[in-house]
Amino acid sequence: MDKKIITVTSPLMPSLEEFNKYLKDIWEKKWITNNGSYHQELEAALCDYLKVPYISLFTNGTLPLITALQALRITGEVITTPYSFVATTHALWWNGIKPVFVDIDPNTGNLDPNKIEQAITPQTTAIMPVHVYGQPCKTKEIQDIADKYGLRVIYDAAHAFGVEVEGESILNAGDISTLSFHATKVFNTIEGGAMVMHDAKIKQRIDYLKNFGFANETEVVAPGINSKMDEIRAAYGLLNLKQVDKAIEKRKQTAFKYRTALKGIKGISFWDDMPHVRHNYSYFPIFVDAEEYGMSRDELYFKMKKNNVWGRRYFYPLISTFSTYRGLESATKEKLPNAYKIAESVICLPMHHSLTDDDVARVIKEIKK
Ligand SMILES: Cc1ncc(COP(=O)(O)O)c(C=O)c1O
Repeated sequence: MDKKIITVTSPLMPSLEEFNKYLKDIWEKKWITNNGSYHQELEAALCDYLKVPYISLFTNGTLPLITALQALRITGEVITTPYSFVATTHALWWNGIKPVFVDIDPNTGNLDPNKIEQAITPQTTAIMPVHVYGQPCKTKEIQDIADKYGLRVIYDAAHAFGVEVEGESILNAGDISTLSFHATKVFNTIEGGAMVMHDAKIKQRIDYLKNFGFANETEVVAPGINSKMDEIRAAYGLLNLKQVDKAIEKRKQTAFKYRTALKGIKGISFWDDMPHVRHNYSYFPIFVDAEEYGMSRDELYFKMKKNNVWGRRYFYPLISTFSTYRGLESATKEKLPNAYKIAESVICLPMHHSLTDDDVARVIKEIKK
């Protein structure tokens, strides 16, 4: 058995030497949080890199979701996807909002716009889609529905760092988009996240909300929360931003190797790049058809694991099956056939910037044999 564990992900980390220089500076300034200079610098650098007008940094990718719903005063019911990380739906629950699950498009893993309208009720106030694996949602179709029914659109873009469609950032779609900078993501600040918005007024409101609602020294204008990013992680982010393009390029090469090697294996399928999209290759999901492949998804997953090749059944189980949500009328299996099918067949293969040729060959060997 090969000893080295090939992990599904590995964090992109700045050089310790470079980071130490920033730490020294922070130690000297003694300004370690509350909109310090590194926080400001990272916000500006990210606006530039991501081609977005306004961004607000957060301490993780869950709090901007919760705060976006607060900021836009979303209530009642929100249409969302069961095929995501559980934080997407939890953000609704924490706001006292009823999640309404709608099935996904099996060709992208994203909320199917054709199924949204039938789920709208007089209580619906917003749609919360996810760009799953960084694959862009059908934003035009979703916006058309939102405009027709007067709904807000909040994108959980946790996976979509740097993704562009025809040269335009996917983060500019909808009313607000949120990002996660968790250690497992393409761009990370260890823990961290951000919110992208289109106008200065929303940015100001968000900046109040993430700092307890303080508008100035003495005035609290809303029941805010504390979700600010500190200076140390902002500095770490600035350094990582310098190397993220190289990391994405490395991931792209790995995706190419996987696709070339896995093409034609009966019972294994995967998605190709979409036309006119700059992907970030944050994940490489494959789908196992047990009958054709001669082995179930779980059998393959555990066989890989035994041989120290760690995939991830991401997303499995579906959010709609968890105890908090399974009682909802929109959570039944009959209503979500595509989501069930994908959740039961998916394995995300190891995908990160530091995979070697040997690592990739070992992953491929596991699936081929
Ligand atoms: C789709 C999605 N939404 C939200 C989150 C939450 O982000 P964080 O872990 O930074 O709080 C994640 C994190 O994995 C995610 O994948």
